[in-house]
This record gives sequence, C-alpha cells and structure tokens, in this order.
Amino acid sequence: MEVPPGIKYLARTLPVALLPCALAFASLLRVDLPLGARILLSLLANPLSLFVSDWYQQVHEARHASSRGAELIPVVRDSRPFGLGTLAKLRESFRSGYPGDFIEDWREEYGHTFMTKIFFDRVITTTEPGHVKAILATDFDNFWKGPQEAQMSQSLLGYGIFNTDDELWKFHRSITRPFFSRERISDFDIFNHHSLAALELLKTRLANGYAVDFQDLVSRFTLDSATSYLFGKSIDSMSAGLPYPFSSPLADSEAFVNHPSTTYVRSFVQSQLMTLERAALQKRWPLFEFWKDRIKPHRKVVDEFIEPILNEALEKKRQKKETAAEGKTVEEGGEEETFLSHLVEATDNKEIIRDSIFNILIAGRDTTAATLTFAIYMLAEHREILAKLRAEITEVIGSSRMPTYEDFRHMKYLRAFLNETLRLYPPVPFDSRASKQATVFNATRPGEKTLFVPAKTRVRYSVFVMHRRTDLWGPDALQFDPDRFLDERVRKYLTPNPFIFLPFNGGPRICLGQQFAYHEASFFLVRLLQSFTNISLAPDAQPEESKPPESWKMRPGTQANEKIQLGLHLTMYSKGGLWVRMDRLAPETNSEIA
Ligand code: HEM
Ligand SMILES: *[C@@H]1O[C@H](CO)[C@@H](O)[C@H](O)[C@H]1NC(C)=O
Ligand SMILES: *[C@@H]1O[C@H](CO)[C@@H](O)[C@H](O)[C@H]1NC(C)=O
Ligand SMILES: *[C@@H]1O[C@H](CO)[C@@H](O)[C@H](O)[C@H]1NC(C)=O
Repeated sequence: MEVPPGIKYLARTLPVALLPCALAFASLLRVDLPLGARILLSLLANPLSLFVSDWYQQVHEARHASSRGAELIPVVRDSRPFGLGTLAKLRESFRSGYPGDFIEDWREEYGHTFMTKIFFDRVITTTEPGHVKAILATDFDNFWKGPQEAQMSQSLLGYGIFNTDDELWKFHRSITRPFFSRERISDFDIFNHHSLAALELLKTRLANGYAVDFQDLVSRFTLDSATSYLFGKSIDSMSAGLPYPFSSPLADSEAFVNHPSTTYVRSFVQSQLMTLERAALQKRWPLFEFWKDRIKPHRKVVDEFIEPILNEALEKKRQKKETAAEGKTVEEGGEEETFLSHLVEATDNKEIIRDSIFNILIAGRDTTAATLTFAIYMLAEHREILAKLRAEITEVIGSSRMPTYEDFRHMKYLRAFLNETLRLYPPVPFDSRASKQATVFNATRPGEKTLFVPAKTRVRYSVFVMHRRTDLWGPDALQFDPDRFLDERVRKYLTPNPFIFLPFNGGPRICLGQQFAYHEASFFLVRLLQSFTNISLAPDAQPEESKPPESWKMRPGTQANEKIQLGLHLTMYSKGGLWVRMDRLAPETNSEIA
C-alpha cells in the first residue's frame, strides 16, 4: 500500500514545524501555568516563528539586494491573511478566467515583474523578455525546474524530460534529440497518411450535415502521427470516429464514449488539469489530496493503453538478442529504428521508458493540436487571411499535390500565419523555473531597475501575456495579422529583441520538436485548404457552458471579442471543443486526394 500524500507531507514537514512548539513548551516548563494554557501557547509558537522568519528573511534580503545594487521585487498586497485573497484570485484565473488576467490586473500597480505570497510561499511572476532570457539562457545554470516542481508533477510526468534536471534530463534529451534531426523529420509520409484519414472523417461528417469539433479531430491527427513517428505504430485514435454535437441524439454514443482512445484521452486531459490545480498550491498540494493522489489513477489508464506497444518493443529486443546469441546474423536494416526501439535498447527500466513515452506524447500531441485549433479559429474569423493563405498554397503546391519539405521553405505566408497563431495563442502560455542561488534580474531597458531574486524561489513567466504587450509589439499587438512577421514590423520589434517571441522557449531546453511541429501543422493546413473553404464557427454546436461568459465583454483586449473560452492545463485549449463548418471545394480541382 502506498503512503497517502498528506501523511508523507506531514512526516516531512511536521518535525520542522513542531520544533518551535517543542522549544516553547520546554521553556514554559518553568512558568507556573495550567497544562492546557501551556500547550496552547506552545502551539502558537509555530505561526509566530513563521512570521519572525519571514520578517528576518525580508530584512536579510533587503540588505543583500542593496549590496548588489538591486531593488526588491514588489509584493502583491492582500487584504486577507496568509495570501488567501491572492490564492483565490489565482485559482479563479486558472480555472475559469482569461489566461494571465491576473497579470494584466496587477501590472499597473506592480509592473511587469511582481511577487505573490501565499502561506509565506513566494512566487515571482514576470513577462519581461530580458528576465525570461536570463532564466532560460544567460543564467540557465542558476534556474532549474527544481525538486518542488518534480515532486508536484511526479504523479503525472514521473521522471521524464519535462520535469527533471541535470543528469536525468541530459539522459532524456540525448535520447530524444536524434529523432528530430533534419533528415528524419523531412519524410512526410506519416503526416500524409494521417491527415488524409482525418480529412476523410471530416468530409463524411460534414456531408451528413453536422458541425465538427475540429479540436478533437486534430488531437486525433497529432496523436496518431506522433505515435506512428515515435513508436513505428499508430495508436489509431481516429478509429473511434468523431464526437457529435451535444444536441444530436448521437452524441455520447456508447461506442464512442467507451472507445479505448476516448478513455485514454479523457485521462490524459483530466490528469493535466489536476496538475495545474496543484501549481496554485505549490508545495502544500498534498494537504489538499491528503488521503489519495488524484492523478496517479489517470496516469495508470494512459500507461495501460501504451503497454501493449511497449511490450511488443521489449519482445522484439529479446528476440533480437536471442538470434544474436544463437550465432545467426541479425538482419541488417530490416526495421527502421524508432524513438521507442532506441529507448528500449538504452534501458531495461520499464518505469523510465513509460515516463519517457508519456512525456513525449504530451509534448507532441497537445501542443500541435492547439496550434491547429487556434489556426482554424483565426481562419474562421479572418476570411481575407484564409484567402491569402490559399493563394500561396495554390501558387506553390497547387490544388492536389502532396507538399514537400522544399515547398515549405518557399511558403513565407504560411510560416508567418503559424507564427502569428503561436504569438496570440501560444500552446504553452505559462511556464516556470526555480532559482538556486540568490541572483538579480539585470535592468534590460533604460529606466528599468535591477531586481533582486531570492534563492530557491519559483519564477513563473507567461509568454501569452508577453506576446500581447503593446510596448514590445507595437500598438496593434492585439490584432491578428500574419504580415507583422513579414513587413517592417519584424525589423522594428522582433529582430532587435528576439526574446519577445517564445512559443517554443529558448536556451538549452528549447523545444526539441519545433521543426517537426511546424511541418506537421503546415502539412495538415495545406491538405485541409486543398479540399475545403469557407470555414466558419458553429456556435449552435458549441455547448452553452463553454461559451465566454457575459462578463468577458467588459474586459480589456481580445478577451471582450473572444468567441471561445480558452482553457488551461499544461497547454492551452478551447473549452468544449472548436465546432466548425466548412465547404468542400469542387472535387475536380483536387482529384488526386479526393
Ligand atoms: C507547436 C507545437 C509546440 C510547441 C508550442 C511547443 C512548445 C514547447 C515548450 C514551450 C517547451 C519548453 C517546456 C519547458 O521546458 O518548460 C517544449 C519542450 C519540449 N518539446 Fe515542444 N512544443 C511543440 C511541439 C513539440 C513536438 C511536436 C514535440 C515532439 C514530438 C515536442 C517535444 C518537446 C520536448 C521533448 C521538449 C522538452 C525539452 C527539454 O526539456 O529539454 N514539442 N516545447
Ligand atoms: C548582469 O549584469 C552583471 C554585471 O554587469 C553581469 O556580470 C551578469 O552576467 C549579468 N547577468 C546576466 C544574467 O546577464
Ligand atoms: C517564425 O518564427 C520562427 C521562430 O521564432 C523564426 O525562426 C522564423 O523566422 C519566423 N518566420 C516567419 C516567416 O515569420
Ligand atoms: C463559400 O461561400 C460563398 C459565400 O457565402 C459562396 O458564394 C460560395 O459558393 C462558397 N463556396 C463553396 C465552395 O461552397
């Protein structure tokens, strides 16, 4: 039986927490007091010691900061004790607000970098590109994911590439990296196979007169593509078919709801949502999942789904060894090496293999699916952009040929369109690191102050908010306009300051799948637009509770005009799906793929 998380937490923290109480109790022994009063006074020693050490820390840090010519990061004031007001605001924001709304709300008073304090735990939040650059690149050695993050996300990620540091991270990175070399990722057969299968589902469903949840469709496409690519075998989540709109009697059909891939995806999503809940609580999350880790059962469902593929790979390895042992020559070049077969060669530890697989599936499925989902959202909202994109596709590739690596190099507008989608709707809108030693954020712009970063402090950064700052991107920053990546605005804003655009992160932990993702998204879009036109949202199919609440109309920026609710787990998604309709292009213009 596993020890409940709450008990583990108390076992770890109580000895330290009770130390002041024990000391107080011992010193009160000399005072003539009833036992009850003595115990009560001793228990008070704990909160008192927290206040005192917090106060001492502040004095100490103020001195340390001024010795380095730095200022303290402003702390968000809270009218409720222990930062409970701050906690409530953060939880509300992550659960049902607009991404980063709390940053926008606090920015006027505290600037682009501020500190929140909840139960004496401090977290820095920044949207300053210079500081993000320090965290990810120039001061990389002093910022890591850290043990607290590992502990918080362990139920979900195990010890995979996303939540490890140092040697284990290097192991994962070195194993993963070769699979994203140029040669490997320029073969598009896998994308072609799965995108044509997806378009087939789309065609049939639209022809039957239903709207389609595009987010669901592309999540199946990216999952099947990623598994094909990484395991040499697709999970074939497309075989479940597509969901029907909630109003249809066919919605929630048993066959769909109970399809293994549906179960798998549900757990995949649930476990990520719960991990985000923990982030607001930081190291105290076990108190809120006292008796039972709520995430592990979901992770188990996901693992079970992958198990047969993993076992097959292990079996292959065993057979290969046997053949070699019997002195027979092993067939050369027979089967192509995949990420999985490589992993199985590198270790026998099933736990490590499972974690690696799970991490890379999170990396590969949701992010690219989000990119495609928000790309379609924007195409539905901006017909003139759809027309321009189609014009480029027609010119470079034509209406039916399969796109190639070489084609994409000539498709500047397509790339700019994807960049603009990643700017306003970055799939990973929030991220964080923890400082090791105390350090400073150097002033990066004239008039800015150098800020003191205490040791062992979490720093959260939001590229979602940074990508929308008008002072970094110009007065039209909130408009969706791919041309900003092609005209004089590039030279004015992006070229001199590349860290204002970070959909894939930067520095030594930059996304390994960046080019893979650009190709995958580009490929799907080209295939889609070779067959379809007139994309429009289908609000009648969108579940009512997933539409933006009335209160959003009063909010600043794009929030007021949003037609969908942006949801957050590790990645961003559209709550309730993205329901669309589109028209089929006349089949004779695309006979090859019809
Ligand atoms: C548009 C799609 C994508 C976006 C926006 C994206 C974004 C990111 C970001 C922001 C990180 C940094 C996370 C962190 O360190 O905290 C990351 C890391 C990573 N991504 Fe991607 N990603 C995308 C697609 C992919 C794909 C398709 C794959 C592989 C199939 C992939 C594999 C990875 C891996 C392995 C890492 C971990 C790198 C490390 O920690 O050393 N990504 N990605
Ligand atoms: C900050 O500035 C100091 C002094 O100029 C320099 O030594 C240090 O490397 C800078 N830090 C970063 C992360 O650039
Ligand atoms: C898109 O962004 C990538 C990554 O930042 C950059 O390398 C590329 O030049 C951009 N391309 C266009 C056309 O905007
Ligand atoms: C697209 O919409 C326009 C205007 O509503 C319509 O005239 C046109 O026929 C549609 N295209 C297709 C292929 O259905």
